[in-house]
Amino acid sequence: MKRIRVFAPGTIANIGCGFDVMGLALDGVGDVVELTLFDNKDEMAEESCNCIYKADACSLCIKNSSNVKLPADPAENVITPAIVKMCQAYSARQERPCHLHIGVEIQQKIRPGSGIGSSAAASASAVYALNAILDNAFSQEELVDFAMEGEKLISGTPHADNVAPAIIGGVVFIRGYNPTDLIKLPVPDNFYCTVVHPHITVSTKEAREILPKAVERKDAIIQWGNVGGFVAGLLMNDLDLLGRSVKDVIAEPYRKGFIPGYDDLKEKLLSNGMIGVNIAGSGPSVFALSKSEEEAELARNIMEEHFSSLNIEREVYVNKVGKQGARVL
Ligand code: HSE
Repeated sequence: MKRIRVFAPGTIANIGCGFDVMGLALDGVGDVVELTLFDNKDEMAEESCNCIYKADACSLCIKNSSNVKLPADPAENVITPAIVKMCQAYSARQERPCHLHIGVEIQQKIRPGSGIGSSAAASASAVYALNAILDNAFSQEELVDFAMEGEKLISGTPHADNVAPAIIGGVVFIRGYNPTDLIKLPVPDNFYCTVVHPHITVSTKEAREILPKAVERKDAIIQWGNVGGFVAGLLMNDLDLLGRSVKDVIAEPYRKGFIPGYDDLKEKLLSNGMIGVNIAGSGPSVFALSKSEEEAELARNIMEEHFSSLNIEREVYVNKVGKQGARVL
């Protein structure tokens, strides 16, 4: 058998202006999985696991040893469709179809619903681990395609703005989906992200369904101006330009209603020097970008105070924007 442990970071999708086309990796918070490729089904059976999913190209056993509660049925775990799709692709490349026996132990888990890419970290870590065991048979774009199957399960739509930065790290721009075309943008050294996760439940599915299907031309102009400004800000190492571009007229106006006191919190953060503030992914988490650790800590205090005054439990993460994505431990 072959066994490997992998970390994949938490991520912030959209980053304000880039709905479904941009995301960044966080440094220091993420999932850890240990993946085993067994030589045969008997070897797999020796590992006590009561959570086996059988598909044509693989049998998959998922164990959860983290302190986070996850669905007991493997069909409801985001790792399953991602690994099944990857095994199908692997089998199709062999001279004869093959069947892989795989065990995944989830050892560390971001809490689901936190807005920092919990589902993406799970599927990204699993596909990255299997690829490492399979001697890097697949490209990063292919891994992102497989991991997106998990996002499809959880939100109804495959989108790569969490899984791409979780796999390749840094700030990732998704130029297109057909085929997946990823651009890893440079990350300045002094680029910080503070994220607050208020304990309110908002499902990604619900947060997507609330959005209008069509966008007016005046809004599209604002949005693509900001996406261009954000990307240019990174390429020119101009964090003020980047900050001015963290604006969203597509999702924020509809989703902010899920977050108590959102406008006040945003105003407090911006007036205290944060360069950009917006909803993390589909929410309910809120992120603030800043240029120093001191500012990132100030954002933490403002976020703590805001939700404490509303009697809402929360967690706050202060992170540098991570340059690295998934990695073998
Ligand atoms: N781009 C997705 C959305 C991210 O905003 O719905 C979900 O985390």
